[in-house]
Amino acid sequence: MALSDADRTPGTRHPRAERVHRDVVSFVRRSSRMNTSQQRNWDAWHDRYVVEVPRGERHTSVHPDAAIDWVAEFGRERPLVVEIGSGTGDSLVPMAAARPDHDVVAFEVFQPAVASTIGRLGREGVDNVRIVLGDAVEGLTYLFAPGSVSEIWVFFPDPWHKTRHHKRRLVSDEFAALAHRVVAPGGVLRLATDWDDYAEWMREVLDAAPGWANVGDAGDGWATRFPDRPLTKYEQRGLDADRRVRDLAYRRLP
Ligand SMILES: C[S@@+](CC[C@H](N)C(=O)[O-])C[C@H]1O[C@@H](n2cnc3c(N)ncnc32)[C@H](O)[C@@H]1O
Repeated sequence: MALSDADRTPGTRHPRAERVHRDVVSFVRRSSRMNTSQQRNWDAWHDRYVVEVPRGERHTSVHPDAAIDWVAEFGRERPLVVEIGSGTGDSLVPMAAARPDHDVVAFEVFQPAVASTIGRLGREGVDNVRIVLGDAVEGLTYLFAPGSVSEIWVFFPDPWHKTRHHKRRLVSDEFAALAHRVVAPGGVLRLATDWDDYAEWMREVLDAAPGWANVGDAGDGWATRFPDRPLTKYEQRGLDADRRVRDLAYRRLP
């Protein structure tokens, strides 16, 4: 969606994007060392797929004054999908390839995983994807105008099992409000997890979140598996351990 001058002037943040203070984040800080093939991918495909953003305090932060014109990035205007935590692109690459009439912006904080993803995108010639190496919460807050996103995908987010770590879970009241701000009325938030307690947590948070309607079509508030969501290694790991995989779908109310 094109941003009008009223929405934004270059170098300024989107209206109503409150600054977020992120001491507690949903990811583990890991080494960003890449192996030889990831480094090769990075060098070959970085310019085509990775969108550099001004940083805040951490190498994964997005500066509050950052602004991206997604129409200019993609060279066209199509419905925008955002994937949070794309990992090595196991869902992202085939799902974007299956949607040539959509553009997909993925956020991932782990550079070696981004390098693997862009290598695969490049080799498979998928062009409707851009990746931000950074925190999706800050990215969603600062890089998207209100109502500019048609779908958000959150597949197998880190479960943060221990009670004292629950505050690190991506899905929270604040996240529901943030997603509500950027998703257009009628747009959809899709999630999947193989951890029962996180699935129940998601239901509790999102069923109660203002402005979202549970549109899970399995009859009991859960959703049937999102069509063409591929089996990823995280999902396989869950199935191998006899865990149940839950899909969820919420529609943004007008
Ligand atoms: C368990 S993995 C799942 C990866 C992928 N969705 C899949 O199903 O194969 C979760 C990923 O989310 C990333 N992540 C967690 N919080 C994030 C955030 N706030 N912004 C961007 N990436 C995040 C992690 O680095 C990790 O790669």
